[in-house]
Amino acid sequence: MAENKGAMKVPLCKAYIDSKETDLVREVLESGWLAHGPKNEAFERKFADYIGVKKAISLNSCTSALHLAVEGLGITGEVIVPSFTFSASANAVVTAGAKPVFCDALYDTCNMDPESVRKKITDKTQAIMPVHFAGQPCRMDELMEIAEERGIFVIEDTAETIGGMFNGRKTGAFGTGCFSFYPTKNMTTGEGGMLTTDDLELAAKVSALKAHGMSSSTFAREKTEKPWLRASVFAGYNFRMCDILAAVGLAQIEKIDMMNDLRRRHAKFLDKNLSSEHLDLPVEDKNCHHTYQMYTVKAKGIDRTKFLAALRARGVGASVHFDPPVHLQPYYNDCKRFGWKKEELKVTEKLAESIVTLPMYPGLTQEELEHVVKSVEEAVREAR
Ligand SMILES: Cc1ncc(COP(=O)(O)O)c(C=O)c1O
Repeated sequence: MAENKGAMKVPLCKAYIDSKETDLVREVLESGWLAHGPKNEAFERKFADYIGVKKAISLNSCTSALHLAVEGLGITGEVIVPSFTFSASANAVVTAGAKPVFCDALYDTCNMDPESVRKKITDKTQAIMPVHFAGQPCRMDELMEIAEERGIFVIEDTAETIGGMFNGRKTGAFGTGCFSFYPTKNMTTGEGGMLTTDDLELAAKVSALKAHGMSSSTFAREKTEKPWLRASVFAGYNFRMCDILAAVGLAQIEKIDMMNDLRRRHAKFLDKNLSSEHLDLPVEDKNCHHTYQMYTVKAKGIDRTKFLAALRARGVGASVHFDPPVHLQPYYNDCKRFGWKKEELKVTEKLAESIVTLPMYPGLTQEELEHVVKSVEEAVREAR
């Protein structure tokens, strides 16, 4: 195995943090109000404006957003979820008391296949969950058409796409949007999430559910005559984001388009300089604005394990998203219980076997990009 002679290390991802985040965090720490408060309110307003929806509700993770979307919409039946995703998409359906039904993916984009969705619809289907994989929106025209025809909800798992657009409309503005601010995502707060909606009733319910089922926040109550009076209208959770993290989010949302432009520029460089002989390169689908939260390629005619090892030996932080797919995870493996058939998830299994994630983050330098390209060339040769 080749050594990483130059000792250059290119991690899989790196958050784009500067003095804007640290200044705002210091402001919060010095303000004396560290829990959910004014910075959350400001972050929610900015995020809602950015996505183009009436309400955004900050949370401690995207998983919480997905869970509250399912519970908040009163879904207890079936939700169609792609199997080619992170387990959190399906887990949230289960923890909220509904049943995930797995559909297949499209090979080019790795996104939910609308034809497969149609096949999985039953009388029990209450929602579909498009997962916008790696920064690219799903085919929202076809999926919205299916949802409208059947009168079912759309819960977008847009953890991996912040700023991505389909026909000029941002993901998270089609149905109930669920975003993640984990450090690998388009923008980060360390841990964190956001739920977006135009449904004010749902927004009020989710806001209560995230804070012990209480209909007002501590910060809002402080402005009333009797701030000590709390009313729990639901048996809720504590899924709140603290103001220290909301401050990071406020700084990040200001930079999101700039960070996404940098990702797109790096992706174009990789598209142009990587050979497609043994790798299928990412495809930007028609009507889509891709934000390259990840830059994924599919290995063909080479040994993927050897390819990954050779990249890592050269300091290139390559990884796999996602293998195994959700239906083959130990919890979901029971095909009778979850009602999936192997032959209906063929593309998903092919993707899981061949996908490779290469480094992608706004701050990638030209030197790092060139190191990735050279390492990929060498790793392909080693893995043939
Ligand atoms: C598609 C998808 N859904 C959900 C999640 C969960 O996000 P979080 O870690 O914010 O709960 C992730 C995160 O990795 C993801 O990739």
